Amino acid sequence: MSLRNTLKPLAMLAGALFAVAPLASFADDLVVKIGFAAPLTGANAGYGKDLENGVRLAITEANAQKIKIGDKLARFEIVSQDDQADPRVGVQAAQKLVDSGVAVVVGHFNSGTTIPASQVYEQAGIPVLDPAATNPIITGRGFANAFMVISTDAQNAGNAGAYAVDVTKAKRIAIIDDRTAFGQGEADEFEKAVKAHGGAIVAREYTDNHAVDFSTQITKFKGANADLVFFGGLDSQAAGFARRMKQLGLNAQLVGGGGVMDDDFIKLAGDSADGVMAWEYGRPLSQLPGGKDFSAKFKKQFGADILSYAPFGYDGAWVAIKAMQQAKSDSPNVYRPVLKAIDYDGVTGKISFDNTGALKSGASTLYQVKNGKWVPIVTKSGV
Ligand code: ALA
Repeated sequence: MSLRNTLKPLAMLAGALFAVAPLASFADDLVVKIGFAAPLTGANAGYGKDLENGVRLAITEANAQKIKIGDKLARFEIVSQDDQADPRVGVQAAQKLVDSGVAVVVGHFNSGTTIPASQVYEQAGIPVLDPAATNPIITGRGFANAFMVISTDAQNAGNAGAYAVDVTKAKRIAIIDDRTAFGQGEADEFEKAVKAHGGAIVAREYTDNHAVDFSTQITKFKGANADLVFFGGLDSQAAGFARRMKQLGLNAQLVGGGGVMDDDFIKLAGDSADGVMAWEYGRPLSQLPGGKDFSAKFKKQFGADILSYAPFGYDGAWVAIKAMQQAKSDSPNVYRPVLKAIDYDGVTGKISFDNTGALKSGASTLYQVKNGKWVPIVTKSGV
């Protein structure tokens, strides 16, 4: 190559650099990648998209506020992974987020994916803010990087068990769960609480999280003369279960744990929804100071109503952003101690963590379907 030909590309490169010079200030910005993982396809995709929108809303707001981390202007970006609600895919998704250089993760949705994925984040030293998965083991293993911005099933299903015995005064309680880390976990917590309150379990059955027919279990519950059934699983299956209970004439109070109290349940259960009870994490959004404002902002940005966990996704992202801002760094080793000690007023309530990373002072609320709408009945702090 002649000297002239060698210099020509260099001249072009210099020209190109000069051409982008006005954008040079971007080069000084700090790009902070916020990882997100949840099911974005499959039966749980509605929950995953809802959560993701919560995270996106927080990022939109943080970027509009031109937040500085140290002396740099921070630009927050979401890196999103579909974990398909599958534990194996969840681990792969977690590894992809780690490899892409995220500073934090908000996720996942299912306990079944969050439990193994949080091991990946722990090994990589990247904090994960869990906005939806509720098996107590997530923060129960002594991990330095696992934080929950939602209360656990020890609390939510524990309250469900106590209430079934003490208030509903059920005498013959039956339990079914979907054998996932979530459904089985909450059914176990429910059973423990029923027994601790002196209640009687007359049957315990299980299904799997793809089943659509529950005739065998319902027939057994009918035979055991159950007057209350606790369903450990998510909305669409709980709706199918409610329909089948009605068809088979099992006249018992159906009580769901987390993930049942949403509009999808009412749509899918139709007439069978009426009277169904469900315990859900946190306080009713409509009763929280920032709840109405959050619902309106969400609708404006996404043209859709909140399904269920979006406020927790939003709070999870904001808590991480605030910790980085206060620590003046997006480096996990620098901002982690600040995150551990944070005291943040979120849209879902006060967020601070105990020494395991679990949410301090979480609440859980009982709802019941009345005239086609979920109505809050009672909120409990603690168990
Ligand atoms: N709370 C549900 C779970 O833990 C979504 O899987």
